Amino acid sequence: MVKELEKRIIHAEKLASIGQLAASVVHEINNPMTAVATYADALLQRSRLTPGANPADQEKLRKILESSHRILRFTRDLVSYARPAQDRPERVALNAVVDMAVGFCEHVVSQARVTVHREYAGDVPPLAAVRANLVQVFVNLITNACHAMAPGGAVHLVTAQEGQEAVVRVRDTGTGIEPRNLPRIFEPFFTTKPEGRGTGLGLSICQGIVENHGGRLSVESTVGQGTTFTVRLPLAVD
Ligand SMILES: Nc1ncnc2c1ncn2[C@@H]1O[C@H](COP(=O)(O)OP(=O)(O)O)[C@@H](O)[C@H]1O
Ligand SMILES: [Mg+2]
Repeated sequence: MVKELEKRIIHAEKLASIGQLAASVVHEINNPMTAVATYADALLQRSRLTPGANPADQEKLRKILESSHRILRFTRDLVSYARPAQDRPERVALNAVVDMAVGFCEHVVSQARVTVHREYAGDVPPLAAVRANLVQVFVNLITNACHAMAPGGAVHLVTAQEGQEAVVRVRDTGTGIEPRNLPRIFEPFFTTKPEGRGTGLGLSICQGIVENHGGRLSVESTVGQGTTFTVRLPLAVD
């Protein structure tokens, strides 16, 4: 109990200092880095169209582009971690939110060469939610699922109403999570991914958003078989 409380205090402190950082990150890093990425891309395009262009230079431009994208991914995560969208909650249809997330994940899904299966309940009543934030939860969960699977794997997205809650399960046929890592996966900056692939912020962003909506995020996992994340959200009261 005390440990749990301690964890929450540390989390809140981290969040406060990251919040201050996030504001300056947007101005001091995102904007110039977007310029770097854009110009590197433009030069690379031009070099590809130039006969006799130096391939070593092209390689360098590709590295600039990759590195700047990596920084932009990180700063984007950091900002949304510290400052989830502050829009007003509205009535949102759960299945549509999950669909939108699937749309945003097209690239990561096709890169992982996995399939997405939607098993939606047709009659889930609306939620009161900040749409953009909820979409982000499912984008993060689907992305993690894709990262955990070998080609040929499957993500199952199941929606349902259970009592006064709307429930979404994101189940994958991936590596599973080792029991010793399970208590740590929601910690900010905890990642088992190689450098450059993960920031370790995804799940703590998800947990923050779900809890802000009065819901819960839980996980079950079996090594070698797969993982299921369950999102429970209260239905809108009229
Ligand atoms: N679906 C999953 N299958 C296996 N491991 C997972 C899954 N989702 C999350 N994890 C584990 O939890 C860690 C933290 O996830 P997350 O907070 O999204 O950060 P990141 O994806 O940047 O590593 C991952 O590095 C991974 O070890
Ligand atoms: Mg992640």
